[in-house]
Amino acid sequence: MTKQMKECMMRNPHTDIVHAGEEIRNPYGSVTTPIVQTVNFYFHDTTELEEYYKEKKDLTDLGKERYPRFKYGRTGNPTQQTAEKKLAAIEGGEAALLTSSGMSAVTAALLDLLSAGDHLVIVGDPYFHIKEFVDRYLSRWGIRADYVPINDFAAMEQAVRPNTKVVFAETPTNPHLRVIDLAKSAAFCKERGLIFIVDSTFATPYNLRPLEYGADLVIHSATKFMSGHNDVIAGAVIGRAEHIVRMRESLEIMGGTIQPTIAYWVIRGLKTMGLRMDRHNETSMRVAEFLHKHSKVKAVYFPGLPSHPDHEIAKAQMRGFGGVVTFEVETLEQARKVVDAMSIPKIASSLGGVESLISVTAMSAMAYYFMTPEQRRERAIPEGMIRFSIGIEDPEDILADLEQALEQI
Ligand SMILES: Cc1ncc(COP(=O)(O)O)c(C=O)c1O
Repeated sequence: MTKQMKECMMRNPHTDIVHAGEEIRNPYGSVTTPIVQTVNFYFHDTTELEEYYKEKKDLTDLGKERYPRFKYGRTGNPTQQTAEKKLAAIEGGEAALLTSSGMSAVTAALLDLLSAGDHLVIVGDPYFHIKEFVDRYLSRWGIRADYVPINDFAAMEQAVRPNTKVVFAETPTNPHLRVIDLAKSAAFCKERGLIFIVDSTFATPYNLRPLEYGADLVIHSATKFMSGHNDVIAGAVIGRAEHIVRMRESLEIMGGTIQPTIAYWVIRGLKTMGLRMDRHNETSMRVAEFLHKHSKVKAVYFPGLPSHPDHEIAKAQMRGFGGVVTFEVETLEQARKVVDAMSIPKIASSLGGVESLISVTAMSAMAYYFMTPEQRRERAIPEGMIRFSIGIEDPEDILADLEQALEQI
């Protein structure tokens, strides 16, 4: 059996996450994927250049993804390509596109799929810059969106129009950590010929693989759990090659290409994603249970708790419930006191890294600058809400830190 055949037989995600997509033989016998830090790839003669163009055109015409070689850095790089092969393998997709941020993954996907006058349905509460992109920018081309509550299929039915092209959902959502019923949503979209996109940033392909449930495309902010160390901004779209090849072309034009060094950092981060997610999953479950029983905590939002509205869906779909726990104390003043009193998590708005981060939701940029208290209430963002992205620190230390912080109120 060749090493390649052995690789194909690997099934355990921990093994796939480490090895999938990477070459068996790297230059110089390097164990790690090389960072190919170049803008240009040269050709020995003009015949070679001509063959490159022909092969690229043939593959693109066939909807096939992989270019045989590279030409100019904005249109692809070997380190990026390796990261993409790994992402496609672990997400269970045909092809992947790695981008310079989660937002460039979202914009490349939506700009490729939608044309003037089209309509999309957005399920739940998307990340606020996605909402901004749709409402402030896509609307300039007459592309409109309707927002529907998660898992409300009657509302979805009502929202769909003859010009609807795309259904976009995030799961779990931020900050309420609602979980969409993927199989039901994918079937709904298939029956109506709609493209179903899932932003699975909070889940990661370790905890959830939306393509297996019938989603057409998966999007990630690879900035979060995928890279996992609060040191990289990156994004990804994964799905069928026919989609990815077109999105790659639009990204080449729009310029959201990832740098080779950053692509390497994504590969580096991904290698420990399985281990990190096991730890995130375990500690966040313990934190959620602790908070659920605490007398000063008004509510806990975590899909691992039986009290969560989507617990049964999450249990059936997900390997683990993720590393974010949202909870609520009585008032904004109390929330600020708890957050200020904690010593392990840093006050910061991102999530998904080895370092714990915490934020008062009503003081997030969106809620603080753009929403009145009434609007926050409408969007179910209580003043006392806290979002805790739980890192890989010792679980006992995290629980003790929470305990002492809650004693301050
Ligand atoms: C669910 C989700 N999708 C997309 C994004 C955008 O990702 P990035 O910050 O990498 O552009 C974010 C960022 O917080 C996010 O939370």
